[in-house]
Amino acid sequence: MNNIAILASGSGSNAENIINYFSDNKEIDVAVVISNRECAYVLERASKLGVPSLYISNKHVNSGGVLLRVLQEYNIDYIILAGYLQLIPLDVVDRYRGRILNIHPALLPSFGGRGMYGMNVHRAVKEAGVEYTGITIHHVSEQYDKGEYIFQAKVAIDGDMSAEQIAEAVQGLEQRHFPQVIENFINKR
Ligand code: GRF
Repeated sequence: MNNIAILASGSGSNAENIINYFSDNKEIDVAVVISNRECAYVLERASKLGVPSLYISNKHVNSGGVLLRVLQEYNIDYIILAGYLQLIPLDVVDRYRGRILNIHPALLPSFGGRGMYGMNVHRAVKEAGVEYTGITIHHVSEQYDKGEYIFQAKVAIDGDMSAEQIAEAVQGLEQRHFPQVIENFINKR
């Protein structure tokens, strides 16, 4: 069995979608959902879907060793970041090198880097007046969103779309592609 840990800090629409996608998969299972925000709705979504969910505070995540121990307790093979707003401790990056994926709601390298998360990304895309936006699924290394890209999908946007409408278009791409990209990535190894 390939066990996945999903790390998320927010609402958890991606986490829910991934859990449902693998719910009857015999080889791949979402074993745990971990959030660094106690009130994150993702924790509620996970427990409603019968998936163990844990809150680990930023202090504990950054105190070294805690996150790695939890991942090992759940026999985790792959880590999926879905709106996780915290750097991954180096001991975890080392142990899971090549087995940590993140999804960014834009076509990296554009609209990436510091402060580029959530609606900030879509507002910046709107401000820039670009014709397309999209998603990037990439490896996570020490430099976070500098890891090798493994998948990108784009969607056309026009000038009169609000940042919220852009966000919706991007979420549509996330829902459609993220689970399949994870499955292909795991099956190819
Ligand atoms: C998504 O837009 C994802 O691309 C980004 O954070 C957001 C998470 O949304 N990394 P949700 O919590 O999965 O609804």
